[in-house]
Amino acid sequence: MQFTFDGHQIGAFRGETAAAALFAAGYRTLRESPQANASRGAFCWMGLCQECTVVVDGVRQPACRTECRDGLVIQRGTI
Ligand code: FES
Repeated sequence: MQFTFDGHQIGAFRGETAAAALFAAGYRTLRESPQANASRGAFCWMGLCQECTVVVDGVRQPACRTECRDGLVIQRGTI
């Protein structure tokens, strides 16, 4: 299946999380911290730290808790 991340096509396997698919595709930065503009990415991989927060079809949610679907539109998070 395919989804987009900041406009780039990303391939994923059925049942894979967005965080895992993005990591496999080479993306380590999933958001920028709002105060320091520091790069943030997946840390706990189980929905606790919120470091992987992205915008999925207009809604903020952790990439590690987002199951990939065809046509998802994911954008880098800002919080
Ligand atoms: S990596 Fe911690 S919430 Fe996603």
